[in-house]
Amino acid sequence: MAALEEQLQTAARIVGESSYLIALVGAGMSKESGIPTFRGGDGLWDKHGEPPMDGYQRLLEDPESWWAQRKAAQQAAKGDELTHAIEEAQPNAGHVALAEMERRGVLKHIITQNIDNLHQEAGSTAITEIHGNRTKMRCIECMRRWTRDEFNADGSPSLNREGPPLCPDCGGLVKGDTVMFGEPIPRDALDSCFDHSQRADAVLLLGTSAVVYPAAEFPVIVYRNGGKLIEVNPQDTPLSELCSAVLRAPSGEILPALLEAVAASADS
Ligand code: APR
Repeated sequence: MAALEEQLQTAARIVGESSYLIALVGAGMSKESGIPTFRGGDGLWDKHGEPPMDGYQRLLEDPESWWAQRKAAQQAAKGDELTHAIEEAQPNAGHVALAEMERRGVLKHIITQNIDNLHQEAGSTAITEIHGNRTKMRCIECMRRWTRDEFNADGSPSLNREGPPLCPDCGGLVKGDTVMFGEPIPRDALDSCFDHSQRADAVLLLGTSAVVYPAAEFPVIVYRNGGKLIEVNPQDTPLSELCSAVLRAPSGEILPALLEAVAASADS
């Protein structure tokens, strides 16, 4: 049997035997939707270097000018590569397979590092977005979130006032939900990730280079608790050696095959 097919059967058995399967998703999951990755040789950071790590500190120091710059930048970014790719992106077969795994009760939760909203658009609902969601706004104090439509439609003067918007509940500063470099991971998202990792007995590592923390820690928690790791990635990662199955293939191709293999083994 070909190595990939053998690994697929092993992965299907692990998934079939699991009672609390979660997924840790990275940028590779959305590569087949046309969104570039950050690393892996042809990623955005490979090409342009990592952005400055003090974006969040600059926002806190001067929210007024940050918001003014953001509006100007949004105008300018309309045509840039990443913004355009994300706005045009549609869920790929990998996102659809995960949504079906959730519907069948096989996949209990998705922890995604992606901000592209593609899991929701594919039909998944059990999701924690550790780096936020580009379509939402968030109060940095009480973590209240709004969709962009709610945010713009909301009549609350503190949201639609001139200058930086303030939360109508607590008066905190409101910003995009996407977690900025230098910004702490929102407490509610972090607690959810640790909770699901503690409960998991198996984790799908999907398209992540597993070099950014705390996200890369969650699979190690599962492993330390005796759980099994399955990696879907054309390349090696620092967590590959902890995996019980390694599927060296694009997620958009292999996840539908995994879904089928799990169904076949359940019927046999
Ligand atoms: N299917 C699966 N994996 C893929 C595919 C694909 N079609 N194409 C590329 N990959 C893999 C690459 O081999 C790489 O290991 O996806 C991984 C993408 O790694 P990164 O670009 O580092 O993405 P991610 O792990 O999500 O980065 C974590 O870093 O800069 C921050 O906020 C950013 O959320 C991001 C975080």
